[in-house]
Amino acid sequence: MEIVILDDAQAIGRLAADQVCTLLARKPDAVLGLATGSSPLPVYDELVRRHQAGEVTFGQARAFTLDEYVGLAAGHPERYRNVIDREFTGRVDLDPSRVAGPDGLARDVPAACAAYERAITDAGGVDLQILGIGTDGHIAFNEPGSSLASRTRIKTLTHQTRVDNARFFGGDVDAVPTHCLTQGLATIMAARHVLLVATGQGKAQAVHELAEGAVSALWPATVLQHHPHVSILVDEAAASRLQLVGYYRETYLAKPAWQGL
Ligand code: GLP
Repeated sequence: MEIVILDDAQAIGRLAADQVCTLLARKPDAVLGLATGSSPLPVYDELVRRHQAGEVTFGQARAFTLDEYVGLAAGHPERYRNVIDREFTGRVDLDPSRVAGPDGLARDVPAACAAYERAITDAGGVDLQILGIGTDGHIAFNEPGSSLASRTRIKTLTHQTRVDNARFFGGDVDAVPTHCLTQGLATIMAARHVLLVATGQGKAQAVHELAEGAVSALWPATVLQHHPHVSILVDEAAASRLQLVGYYRETYLAKPAWQGL
């Protein structure tokens, strides 16, 4: 687990975009794992900028989103499949048929979840998973109490997550769906490289628990301590509760240039 503390969201966006571009240069048909939420937006904006500048193509890439609300109509603007299209995939040359998400309108939910797991496996697995983190330490929609061995399944959102996400539903918490389909913690753990981005004071406790807390279902992101290749990109505010902050800074400054993230 490597923690990189950067000045602001734009610097985080640039470093994360570097990783995506390096991966695609090495493996043009790479499989990307995409997160919704506001934290990855600077990453997507930077990738769009580089794509428009002719620096990167997504023409052969594939993408899988992490999660989806249950019951939002296909055209609903907050359906995550639409959100990711609006914020990223529709702004680059990634064919919509190569972008998949869990089916929040499925009649047979367990079958849809199993099919999503199979689709990820059949694509060769996720090469680079971009992740955000909730204020309560959830990743994707794996709320506190999630099994550390979980796979894609239906979950009930916590009241806190619904309050956090009400801003996308006109501030109306009752408009936020109560259920979601989400990749499980074990699904996320199968990605070859996990790149988690977090900014702002509101994420400081979750980032501290993620990197320095005891591994526990109470803070689902702590499962990443068992992953061999995790990069955590944070700003000063999100880093403000880290106990070993000085060590993380020294380590990154002293890092050999060839090593990358
Ligand atoms: C939602 C998403 C998560 C995301 C989290 C934090 O719950 N399902 O994938 O990490 O929000 O979002 P934000 O980055 O907007 O704080």
